[in-house]
Amino acid sequence: MVVAIMGFLPSHTGLPQKSSCRSGICDPMVLKQRIRHKRVGIFGRKQISPTNRLYYGQNDTGALRVFVMSDLHTDYAENMAWVRRLSTVWYRNDILIVAGDVAETYKNFVVTMSELKDRFSGVFYVPGNHDLWCRREGGNYTDSLEKLRALLDVCTELGVETSPRIVDGLGIIPLFSWYHKSFDKEKDVTGIRIPSLEMACKDFHACTWPPELSNGDVALAHHFDMMNEKNNNAVEEVHKTNCQIITFSHFLPRQDLCPEKRMLFYPNLPKIIGSDFLEVRLRFIHGKNGNRSACHVFGHTHFCWDAVLDGIRYVQAPLAYPRERKRRMNGGENWLPFCIYHKGFMDKLSPSYWSEYYSKNKREPDKTDLAPWVARFYTR
Ligand SMILES: [Fe+2]
Repeated sequence: MVVAIMGFLPSHTGLPQKSSCRSGICDPMVLKQRIRHKRVGIFGRKQISPTNRLYYGQNDTGALRVFVMSDLHTDYAENMAWVRRLSTVWYRNDILIVAGDVAETYKNFVVTMSELKDRFSGVFYVPGNHDLWCRREGGNYTDSLEKLRALLDVCTELGVETSPRIVDGLGIIPLFSWYHKSFDKEKDVTGIRIPSLEMACKDFHACTWPPELSNGDVALAHHFDMMNEKNNNAVEEVHKTNCQIITFSHFLPRQDLCPEKRMLFYPNLPKIIGSDFLEVRLRFIHGKNGNRSACHVFGHTHFCWDAVLDGIRYVQAPLAYPRERKRRMNGGENWLPFCIYHKGFMDKLSPSYWSEYYSKNKREPDKTDLAPWVARFYTR
């Protein structure tokens, strides 16, 4: 998880591909240097690994277990192999929530979801940005919205849920979303040359949109948010049954679920990670002040997270890229999928580097002096 400190490798910087990024922010060689820094102990503290070991094994209790994860990125063979290694016995009575970024290609998406559906009694899904990339689809889709429809159709065929459902007294509500630049409300870091969003984030090239929509604009985020309207009746049903509720999205509902800009190798990251529309929906669903059984699962930044903010528990449990796991970002992979519900919500928050950090340290977004590891990166 240490490298997550750096916030260097969000899912959208697309590191393994060849990069034209002159600053080196997308350069694998720079990544190696970052790893070396980690090994010599820039951060000098023990890694915190999330724990989930109690929930390894078969569910013999008859009580529903709900596991979560995001950012499977199974275009990487190692990640697909990880999915295939999941037990075909342990999760037969359980639910899995997948908070987006399954795979870049339709083919890998279908294979992954089929593998998961073979293992869990129920699988829920919302799309992430990588799922809507069109660049390797051989012109099969006119744009990312058409690909989205194809993904939702195949989910229906596979029996993967993309709409709200009540399962054993637990309401599970997927929320569609896309990020917008104006989600970022914190002071920008200045005085260094930060690559443009278009240069750092592959979505600007790998996704295509109808002419009236463009990546990063609030209109695109609004378009995705409006897809949730068709579920209003189902959400109302969940409310009526007075059950416990898990909502989930790929993108972030609030900026304080991401480290401050001065901690990030790409300080403009908050402009491409979240949607204000999400938090409005969450507060409508879970109540303005949340409640003891309100939980929201998200993904996208690959920063593991488990924290309660204003009465809602926010969880991120990403598989992330093989290279991130190799350097033990998020404590590897052995704690996934992560169990958040068994005979009710798990009481204990799982230790995760950044959510632990912010439980002890005040957020100071007006402070824009770079963290030492970021400063070193930009002066190199
Ligand atoms: Fe993502």
